Amino acid sequence: MSAYQALLRQLPLTPRTWLVTGAAGFIGSNLLETLLRLDQRVVGLDNFATGHRRNLDEVRGLVAPAQWARFAFVEGDIRDPACCREACRGVDHVLHQAALGSVPRSLDDPLATHAVNVTGFLNMLIAARDAGVRSFTYAASSSTYGDHPALPKVEHAIGRPLSPYAVSKYANELYAEVFARNYGFASIGLRYFNVFGPRQDPNGPYAAVIPRWTAALLKGEPVWINGDGESSRDFCFVANAVQANLLAATTSNPDALDQVYNVAVGERTTLNALYLQLREALAPHGVAADVPPRYRDFRPGDVRHSQADIGKAERLLGYRPSHRLAEGIAAAAGWYTTSAAVDG
Ligand SMILES: NC(=O)c1ccc[n+]([C@@H]2O[C@H](COP(=O)([O-])OP(=O)(O)OC[C@H]3O[C@@H](n4cnc5c(N)ncnc54)[C@H](O)[C@@H]3O)[C@@H](O)[C@H]2O)c1
Repeated sequence: MSAYQALLRQLPLTPRTWLVTGAAGFIGSNLLETLLRLDQRVVGLDNFATGHRRNLDEVRGLVAPAQWARFAFVEGDIRDPACCREACRGVDHVLHQAALGSVPRSLDDPLATHAVNVTGFLNMLIAARDAGVRSFTYAASSSTYGDHPALPKVEHAIGRPLSPYAVSKYANELYAEVFARNYGFASIGLRYFNVFGPRQDPNGPYAAVIPRWTAALLKGEPVWINGDGESSRDFCFVANAVQANLLAATTSNPDALDQVYNVAVGERTTLNALYLQLREALAPHGVAADVPPRYRDFRPGDVRHSQADIGKAERLLGYRPSHRLAEGIAAAAGWYTTSAAVDG
C-alpha cells in the first residue's frame, strides 16, 4: 500500500481540523472536496478575488450533507492580519493556497501581487505560528526556477526570477526558512508545476493554458499559442497536488520538514503536443479533428522549458502521482464539457 493509500484509510478514523486558504479557487476547492470526503473538519478562507462561489456550491453537491456540515467558510482577506488570526484558531493543519496567480498579472500589477502573495503569506505564517498549528503547507511555484537552464528541475538549483510573481513565490520560501530557523516553526513548500483539472477558471485574461484552450475549442474559437509551440511544461493533474498536500501536512518524517518539493509528474510536453491531445480528447464533444492552432509572439516572463525531478517528494513524502497528462486531460475535459464556467 502506498503512503497516500494508507493516509486515506487513516484520516477518517482520526479527523482533524484543516484551514484551506483560497478554498473558493481551483486547487483550494479540490483540497476542500477531498478533505470533506475524508470526514475532516475544514475551515475555508477566501475573498473571491479570483475564486468563485460556484466552486463551493459544486463541492457542496459532491459531498454528503453530513460532510458539508463540517465545513465553515470565512469570507476574508489574507492581507488582514486579524482575519488570518481568526481563521487559524483551533486549526491542526494549514494548507495555504490563497494568492494572486499568473505571471502576466504580476507584470501588469506587481504591487497587488506583492501585497497578497508576500504580505498576505507573512500574515498567514505569523498567525499559524502563534496559533500553534501542527503543520503549515504552502503553495510555492515552479516559477522559482527562473532562468536556471538545467532540466529536469531539482529543488536546490534555482536561477534568477523572471517575473514579480516568481519573486513573490520565492519570497515565501525565504520567509518559511527564516521562520524555521528563528522560531522553530518548520513548514513545507510545494512547488507546483502547471496544475490543471476541474474548477480551474477558463475565463479572463490570466486564465491558464489548459482551461483557456479547452474553453476556446468547445466554443469553436481560435486557440492561440504563444511562441512556436515548442515550449514545454510538466502538466500536473490536480489530484496529484492534493496528494502532495495531504502527505506533506501529515508527515511524521522529521527530515521532510522545512523543505520545498517539486509537485508534478516528471514528464515534459510541448504546447504543440498538448494542443493535439486536447483536441483529440474533445473530439467526442464536437471539436473538429483538423482545426489548427494560431501562433503569436512569445509572452514576456515565461520560461522556455519546465520539467520536474520529483524524486525528493517520492523519497521524503512517499509521493506517487496518480495521474499522468492523458488521464488528467480526460478527467478535465469531461468536467469542462458540462461546466457552466465555460460561458457563451
Ligand atoms: N495552478 C497552477 O498551475 C499553480 C502553479 C504554481 C503555483 N500555484 C499556486 O497555487 C495556489 C492556488 O492557485 P490556483 O491555481 O488554485 O488559483 P486560484 O486563483 O483558482 O485560487 C486562488 C484563490 O485565492 C483567493 N485569494 C486571492 N487573493 C486573496 C486574498 N487577498 N485573501 C483571501 N483569498 C484570496 C482567490 O479568490 C482564489 O479563490 C496559488 O498560491 C498559486 O500561486 C498554482
